[in-house]
Amino acid sequence: MAASIEWLYLAAAVLFILGIRDLSSAETARRGNTLAAIGMLLAIIGTLQHQAIVRIDWIIAGMVIGGLIGLLMAVYMPMTAMPERIAIVNGLGGAASGLVGISEVYRHVIVPQAAGSVVTFDAFHTGVAGFEIMLGSLTFSGSMIAYGKLRGLISGSPLTYPGQNIVNVAWLVGMLAVISGLVTGSLAPEFFFVLAGLALVFGVMFVLPIGGADMPVVIALLNAYSGLAAAATGFVLNNKVLIIAGALDGSSGLLLSLLMCKAMNRSITNVLFGAVGAAVSSGGSTDQGDPQTISVVEAAERLFDARRVIIVPGYGMAAAGAQFAVREVADLLKSRGTEVRYAIHPVAGRMPGHMNVLLADANVPYDDLVEMDEINPDFADTDVALVMGANDTCNPAARHAEGSPIFGMPILDVDQTSQVIVIKRSMSPGFAGIPNEMFLAPNCHMLFGDGKQVAEQLAETLSL
Ligand code: TAP
Repeated sequence: MAASIEWLYLAAAVLFILGIRDLSSAETARRGNTLAAIGMLLAIIGTLQHQAIVRIDWIIAGMVIGGLIGLLMAVYMPMTAMPERIAIVNGLGGAASGLVGISEVYRHVIVPQAAGSVVTFDAFHTGVAGFEIMLGSLTFSGSMIAYGKLRGLISGSPLTYPGQNIVNVAWLVGMLAVISGLVTGSLAPEFFFVLAGLALVFGVMFVLPIGGADMPVVIALLNAYSGLAAAATGFVLNNKVLIIAGALDGSSGLLLSLLMCKAMNRSITNVLFGAVGAAVSSGGSTDQGDPQTISVVEAAERLFDARRVIIVPGYGMAAAGAQFAVREVADLLKSRGTEVRYAIHPVAGRMPGHMNVLLADANVPYDDLVEMDEINPDFADTDVALVMGANDTCNPAARHAEGSPIFGMPILDVDQTSQVIVIKRSMSPGFAGIPNEMFLAPNCHMLFGDGKQVAEQLAETLSL
């Protein structure tokens, strides 16, 4: 390989690592994105210098079409559709790895064998290509099911049947047996196609039993698989930058899924095999007793009188697209000298950093966003907590209700505030499907309505 390609790959790998480091904080995330994008550009420039490339026109056509689709998605897809966007991109990454694996197998095994010449894949490359095809294919189909669940095209409820986990494990063992048969040569190379088919079906079987709101964890895990598939592609193609980028993708995806599970106080096995969760849109029991309600005008008066306010955003803010109106309410209060901050729970919403992304979209200053551990001691000393579509993340049942799906999950101590105002449409539970006892507490008032409409009405009343 030419030295210039090696240098470009090295620079790309360093930029990927620096990019991931910067993505770990909201302040540096934009820079991280840019660094990783430059890294990708260098990797592409390096790859285009390979002598093995015989047709550049197909590559340019692919880059133009792919670049255009990426640009349109970045510009026109709303922030609320980010989990779906990640599911699609992830799935296509897996499909790319799977297809490269199949084409390499075709080139190095099937064609030479049919021509009666020597097969150019040894046992190592055959095994790695098998893993690449398996992981790439199951990532593709699994991500498409995750997309369907997030988009509401498929039921978000876990789709289960008795003995499902046993069938899934048996299926996985079957796929591994096919790979070992291909490595030992006891199976014909055409079984690579059988493997791809089995893996496509497995992706569907793996994701269907998982609840719609757990899709971010699944997508992060599938992301790890697509990273491993890319690393396997790197071994097959002898491409170092693919091995490094795939390993980074694989490890960061796995770490992210584990971090999400930790923040929900659930194990990864509970997420993957526990069939937890109602549909993505809330539903379930509304039998939570009669709460105290409050009108927009009364809520505005309480906010008007408050010195310190904490806004607690949750999935409902994302669903309603209320972040701009919420910022308007905050700005109006701040202009009167009220201290306003936002309490950010690590798993509020439906994807990691969901609230940060939405509020950044509405130009809320980073400094106003305070992480759970830092803001929790301040609730007791706050006049009004304004809960905007959050539910599980501030449900006190997490502290004491043993056996509840959220027992042990760290929560925002909203109930410690002198006055709590909750904006949501009804008494429906959140993702975990359980009642929130805070809604019936003496210091809590419900302000029923769609998050965006209510926040706009509040802003209008506050500006009078
Ligand atoms: P949830 O507990 O899911 O509650 C959201 C609330 O928003 C619902 O009770 C719903 O009540 C309300 N809502 C929905 N649409 C609304 C609208 N248009 N206007 C106003 N309110 C609306 O939200 P949360 O507190 O953010 O908790 C997140 C949950 O998701 C946690 O259980 C967490 O474990 C889980 N989860 C999160 C992640 C990540 S990474 N964030 C991943 C997997 C699972 P109404 O229907 O009455 O309006």
